[in-house]
Amino acid sequence: MEPSRVQPETAGAALHPEGGAALRLTGITKRFPGVLANDAVSLDVRKGEILGLLGENGAGKSTLMNIVYGLYKPDGGEIEVNGSTVDISSPQQALELGIGMVHQHFMLVPDMTVAENIALAPSLLPGLSRVKDVERDVGEISRRFRLDVDPGAVVEDLTVGARQRVEIVKLLYRGADLLILDEPTAALTPTEWHELSRFLRSMADDGRSIIFITHKLDELFGLVDRCTVLRDGRVVDTVNIADTDKPSLAKMMVGRTVTLRVERPIVEPGKPVLEVKGLSVADEDGRRMLDDIAFQVRAGEVFGVAGVAGNGQDELVQALLGLVTTDSGEIWLHGERIDDCSPQVFTAAGGAIVPEDRHHEGIALELSVLDNLLMKEYQSPRYSKRGVIDFNASRKHADELIRHYQVRTAGVSLPARQLSGGNQQKLVLARELSRDPRLVIAFQPTRGLDVGAIEFVYGQLNERKKEGTAILLISYELDEIFTMADRFAVMVGGRFLEVLEGGQADPERVGLLMGGAEDGAP
Ligand SMILES: Nc1ncnc2c1ncn2[C@@H]1O[C@H](COP(=O)(O)OP(=O)(O)O)[C@@H](O)[C@H]1O
Ligand SMILES: [Mg+2]
Repeated sequence: MEPSRVQPETAGAALHPEGGAALRLTGITKRFPGVLANDAVSLDVRKGEILGLLGENGAGKSTLMNIVYGLYKPDGGEIEVNGSTVDISSPQQALELGIGMVHQHFMLVPDMTVAENIALAPSLLPGLSRVKDVERDVGEISRRFRLDVDPGAVVEDLTVGARQRVEIVKLLYRGADLLILDEPTAALTPTEWHELSRFLRSMADDGRSIIFITHKLDELFGLVDRCTVLRDGRVVDTVNIADTDKPSLAKMMVGRTVTLRVERPIVEPGKPVLEVKGLSVADEDGRRMLDDIAFQVRAGEVFGVAGVAGNGQDELVQALLGLVTTDSGEIWLHGERIDDCSPQVFTAAGGAIVPEDRHHEGIALELSVLDNLLMKEYQSPRYSKRGVIDFNASRKHADELIRHYQVRTAGVSLPARQLSGGNQQKLVLARELSRDPRLVIAFQPTRGLDVGAIEFVYGQLNERKKEGTAILLISYELDEIFTMADRFAVMVGGRFLEVLEGGQADPERVGLLMGGAEDGAP
């Protein structure tokens, strides 16, 4: 069947959703020394479907597919092909089951022709004497799938894209109806990529199945029907491509602990802005929630507090804001003693807070975007005269903030609850950072945000840092601390165990410290 003549009722996997599983993996596990490459992976690919297999480098994609292709033996799990459980212990066996794989690195003999390469390969029809037949068959296959492969061409004369097509034709010639392509686009030109994706679709329309491995999100849209996301050897989820978008896939792929493209600006720190000395706080039952905490945050410095939630982080923030009574110790902000004061005193001394729970502390959901932006500045003479709000001036200021902080909202009078989570957080940042604070407390500032919004938040905090603001970053995400902090403390049981240099700390040791190992040794 010519792809161009595919009947509409048979075209596209979406039209045969019950097309049955061509391949089903259940609980596939594979260990290498020191690495769990595949951890109980389950997925299926249907007939007539293109399945994307997405994951970062090292996620376990190639390992999984090499198992399916008979190159690795799994430590556990089951493979079903067309409904029957199978044991695949060689590529030859995989091919007999109709499974073909194109590897990241091709396996062709350079100084032989295309037809010779295909005839040479161990196949169901072996023998060099058949080269003429092979030439004819290859010509037919490439015409049928518009693959533009010349059977008489010598492989070493071919472009990468053409060699890839040879690999595909070789598999089709040998009867593959499930094609696995491992990161096939690495060296393709845009035109070749376009042709490849058109070819893959025509294969699927022909009732075959494709597994398309990639770590590039852009390649999935417009090509695959569903996508299985692997992270650290595990399946995060399988989604219909029509029901998802790039940010969601990115988040699934990299997880909450993102290693972002954020440079930590090097700033010569100035004078201490926040000084905490011997701070202790007890709860109602007399338990010590903060135990003799001491640290400084200097101008132009990000000081991090790493630790597992519930180790005193809430109490530390409350103490800094003046919301709990301290047992002992002192808190100085820009030369002013503020312990046991109030959030108003904290703000007046130059403090800003990006709170952990933006819905309860950061914004008033029922109030408008404008009110949320200005709620800490209404008393300023810039926006009110003798107690009467200057609506034009506030409106102008709000518009500027929305533009500068890229808050996506249909208008300043909209209630804040109608904004997305990322935009609500931008609203908080706009209000807190625009007041030129001397100190910013950022408590879990990227919780629940997608990758793009996380990068934005980091960028804004780093901008403040370059302006000389002192930043106290309290986060349960160790990667966030490593990305942002110049120095950081590890907080366990209400105490600071140790203060470390951001650039030099060993994540593993910090993880152990956070888990309560006193000296960071296992
Ligand atoms: N032959 C091998 N021996 C030891 N470790 C391996 C081997 N192949 C892969 N790994 C490890 O298994 C993990 C998954 O690798 P891989 O399947 O190649 O991921 P991906 O294809 O998603 O980049 C990685 O940590 C990798 O270093
Ligand atoms: Mg790989």
